[in-house]
Amino acid sequence: MYVRGLAMALLTAMLLPALPAQAAEVDCAKVKCLALTFDDGPGPSTGTLLSTLKKSKVKATFFLMGKHVEERPALVKRMAAEGHEIGNHTWSHPSLPTLFDEEITQELKATQEVVEKVTGRTPALFRPPYGNTDARVAGLAGDQGMAQVLWTGTTLDWKLRDQKKIRAAVLRLAKRDGVILMHDVVPQTVQVMPTLIKDLRKRGYHLVTVSALLRGRKLAPGETYP
Ligand code: NI
Repeated sequence: MYVRGLAMALLTAMLLPALPAQAAEVDCAKVKCLALTFDDGPGPSTGTLLSTLKKSKVKATFFLMGKHVEERPALVKRMAAEGHEIGNHTWSHPSLPTLFDEEITQELKATQEVVEKVTGRTPALFRPPYGNTDARVAGLAGDQGMAQVLWTGTTLDWKLRDQKKIRAAVLRLAKRDGVILMHDVVPQTVQVMPTLIKDLRKRGYHLVTVSALLRGRKLAPGETYP
């Protein structure tokens, strides 16, 4: 049994590196792509969401709050290992345009540092809390090497708190190359995800990270997308 287990482990180790590359080969110029994005985590439901995404072979983008990364580093490590894209959603979720430059820089920098510490990678994407932003905020994010990612459709899942309504909102907002805003801290969003992924696939969508939508182009620091 031991030898068999060892052989399986070796086989798994040999096969594993091929998987992320395969997922990255989705060409959004040729197929209909959609990016699911989850803000404000990681939270108590994030582990369940990661299991759903893994089972469905879906890659998503997470805009994390630094203080939540500090609370749940293992989930963030898992997120990165499972091929999801990680972006910066500030340390404590303030409305950035109301802050001084140094405060904005600190919110972003502390989050960059904790994500880097946990995953070994520094985020290249940033999403402003509440979508509140201006040229100054985008510029300060650019100074730290980040592009700003907004969305094409917001589900208002935090307000709906209802699986059926969240599902209907996502299906209504879904469009080719769309960026859908949801929250992994809303349990109903996580609960409806297995059904929703099936719905979206039936409609022909390939569910990819935000960067995959760019078809190989890299966003410049300070740039806003979409
Ligand atoms: Ni947020």
